[in-house]
Amino acid sequence: LEPKSPFVGIPGGVHADPPQRYLGNYERYLAQGGRLLLEQNLAAFTHSGANRSDMARFYFFCLAFDQIVKEGLAGDFAELGVYKGHTGALLAGFARRLDRTVYLLDTYEGFSDRDLTGIDADVQAASFADTSLAAVQAVVGESNVRFVKGYFPDTAAELPADGIYCFVHIDCDLYAPMASALEYFYPRMVPGGFIVVHDYSSLHWKGAEKAVDEFFADRPECPVPLPDGAGSAVIRKARSPGHAGSWIDEKRGRLLGRDWTTPAGGQLAELLHAGWSGPEPWGVWGVGEEHVLRLTPPTDSTEPIVLELDVQAALTELHASQSVSVAIDGDPVDEWEFALNRNRRLRTLAIPRPAPGRSWIEITFRPRIVLPASQMRPGSGDHRTLGLGLLALRIAETPDR
Ligand SMILES: C[S@@+](CC[C@H](N)C(=O)[O-])C[C@H]1O[C@@H](n2cnc3c(N)ncnc32)[C@H](O)[C@@H]1O
Repeated sequence: LEPKSPFVGIPGGVHADPPQRYLGNYERYLAQGGRLLLEQNLAAFTHSGANRSDMARFYFFCLAFDQIVKEGLAGDFAELGVYKGHTGALLAGFARRLDRTVYLLDTYEGFSDRDLTGIDADVQAASFADTSLAAVQAVVGESNVRFVKGYFPDTAAELPADGIYCFVHIDCDLYAPMASALEYFYPRMVPGGFIVVHDYSSLHWKGAEKAVDEFFADRPECPVPLPDGAGSAVIRKARSPGHAGSWIDEKRGRLLGRDWTTPAGGQLAELLHAGWSGPEPWGVWGVGEEHVLRLTPPTDSTEPIVLELDVQAALTELHASQSVSVAIDGDPVDEWEFALNRNRRLRTLAIPRPAPGRSWIEITFRPRIVLPASQMRPGSGDHRTLGLGLLALRIAETPDR
């Protein structure tokens, strides 16, 4: 007697909820620069009525795309195992959006007998033959796509010798081409790049699990199982320790420029280390006895930097003056005076390059007194103790030398 899975007949049990960034927070996603063209992407993935019950897979591809954008990963897209071009059409949309190329590799005639040995000896030979290159081209379109027709790994010779990839989808079901694809693409992945292997945990295509487990048994990366229908696994190519220019340093470095960095879009929040309240439309309050900024100077310049800060202190008629000591990497560098009649002002600070082995410097502000917010706004119920308020900062224009 077949044991009955507890998921048989559960209404909705085959569907996945959309990630919040694409549903409840979709406006925020777009406002923060989200690049996906979700409607087009969904149409591509579900063309001819396919895949509607495998939305977890779609959402994962989309989240991976967003991460590639966020981390600024370079490289092209590739897929081994295209069949009728559902995931291929999705990847083509991604490639167009980023002006990259997607390589779509398949026999476009189904499995090759050459692969039906060993663990796959019992697989039905004629599978996936009901497709053609022309049919897939008609669905996927030609721009930003290179169709590579034939038996893999023979067709690897048609890929660019110096190719690098940020996302590779291996969906060819059988052990031999999966193992070949891992051998071929793994060394060509950018650090942080995504290898997605379909069927890893499905218990249907036994070769997928075997190829992945063997390949990654002695490598630093591990497969992470995904909850899509066929049990894909994702592996992200390791970054070497201390490799030059981490994406987060580059991102933070871009926040320090000649334009003001403000709370808009959450930019200021990236620079706040300890002792700050949440950014508000006007700026951000330092709270408590010490407020620390952690700044990553732009990575493309070795010039000394003068920072311009738009600041004010928390003051009232009773506490009409304030003094804030400023230290950089622990060394006192300045003492800023504030008074009720000349409070908000631009201050400058000369910033040294970060110490060797570090990408950031720390600026610590210590206000002489901290002021209960309830004294500034009686009856507000605000329990913060406020010190320095930061409205914006930027790199000051320095006179040409
Ligand atoms: C499951 S289908 C791909 C489905 C597709 N990724 C999708 O989600 O719409 C598997 C494909 O792998 C291809 N394939 C298997 N072994 C291959 C090999 N050695 N070389 C090229 N293509 C191969 C088959 O022709 C078949 O089209």
